[in-house]
This record gives sequence, structure tokens and C-alpha cells, in this order.
Amino acid sequence: MTIPCIVNNGAGLCYNQGMATSRRDTADSYTQRAHREGYPARSVYKLEEIQKTNPVIKPGDTVLDVGAAPGSWTLYTHRMLLKGKGQIISVDLNPLNLNPVPPTVTAYVGDAFSKEIREKLTSHGPYDAIISDAAPMTTGNRTVDTSKSEWLAEQVVILAQEQLKEHGNLVIKIFQGGGQQQILQTMRGMFRKAKTLKPKACRTDSFETYLIGLDKI
Ligand SMILES: C[S@@+](CC[C@H](N)C(=O)[O-])C[C@H]1O[C@@H](n2cnc3c(N)ncnc32)[C@H](O)[C@@H]1O
Repeated sequence: MTIPCIVNNGAGLCYNQGMATSRRDTADSYTQRAHREGYPARSVYKLEEIQKTNPVIKPGDTVLDVGAAPGSWTLYTHRMLLKGKGQIISVDLNPLNLNPVPPTVTAYVGDAFSKEIREKLTSHGPYDAIISDAAPMTTGNRTVDTSKSEWLAEQVVILAQEQLKEHGNLVIKIFQGGGQQQILQTMRGMFRKAKTLKPKACRTDSFETYLIGLDKI
């Protein structure tokens, strides 16, 4: 039986009204592994691959995680990357689903780009690394969705221009087809190295990719 997708978040999840499950709810190996390892979402393995191929976070860093809920990237950063040294500021429209919230984490709920939340984020900065897996609630219309994703990515770049330290690193999710090339071009002017990476953990039919900026000028 085919289950209609009511809302697709572009990252591969498909929410159906009245149903708690997705069309692709059959747990894949990444989902099963996330469950075993205590992470609330499989997206953790995208950050793992990014970090293995292009180290962006080191122990002692102050890290800003934008679009952090349910909290896999935040938890992975706490457990595996900071190794108890440093701090993570996490922000999302929704609360983290971490219990307990690790001691290195300060979490804010709200729009990362609103005046009120920006002030709070600025009070913890500047940051050694900014990581953003932020994604819009999608409509199913690819043009609309990529343009919303592009807007989010641009806002993160602006945040990084203001709040990322010299030598700092940046990771941004963007839906392919948006202004990816222009944003990459901007990042090439901000970082000694800037590139695109699509981790293997991205679902095969997902149109997301990641822009990575290393060593801010
Ligand atoms: C794919 S999820 C992030 C998953 C997360 N990295 C993890 O590993 O658990 C994308 C998130 O971006 C958030 N988001 C979208 N727009 C946002 C905004 N303006 N401010 C804060 N969070 C936002 C959504 O609420 C959603 O939770």
C-alpha cells in the first residue's frame, strides 16, 4: 500500500497527518545504529562523516549548533568531540529531546535569527565552530523548499561573519538547487578552504548537502 506523503522535510522524513510514522519508517542501518548508541536521530552520522573528513570541532571549543533539535549533533559534539572540555550553545524552534541535557550544553528554544535569540547567542560568542543542520518545514514544492533552505543558509553565513572567531569552522546544510554556488562563493571569501560534502548518511533520495568552511580568515 502506498502511504501519501503529506509533508516532507527535505531531509528524507515524511510526516503523515494522523500517523506517528513515516513512509520510510522501516529503520535503516543508520537509524538502528542511532537507536543503539542513544542518539535521537540518524543525522548524527552526517556530522560524524563531516568531522572525520574535515575536522571542524576540537576539545575545548565553544560551538554553536543551529537547528539542533532533537539533539543528535549536540549530543555527538558533547560526547565525541569536546570530550568534556568546551561548551555547546544549541538553538532550535523545538526543544532538544535529550535526557539529561549534557552539562556542556546551553539550549535555547526559538527562531535562531530573531532579535531576541540573536542577542542570547551573541552573549556566548564568538564561537570556534558554528554547525547548522537547520531545515525548513517543507511543502513538497521543491522551488519553495530550496528557497527557504537558501534563506536559512544565508542567515547562518551572516551569523558566522559576525560570531565566528578567526580560524573558526562552519558547517551549513542547504537543499541542492538553492543558491548553493553563490553561498559557497561567499564562503570562499571568508575561509581559507570552502567545499561541498554530501555525507553517505544522507538518504539516497534526499536533496540536502552541506557547505563546509575551514579556517576563517
Ligand atoms: C534536520 S533537523 C536537525 C537535526 C539535528 N541536527 C539533530 O541531529 O538532531 C532541522 C531543524 O532545524 C530547525 N529549524 C528550522 N528553522 C529554524 C530557525 N529559524 N531557528 C531555529 N531552528 C530552526 C527545525 O526546527 C528542525 O528541528
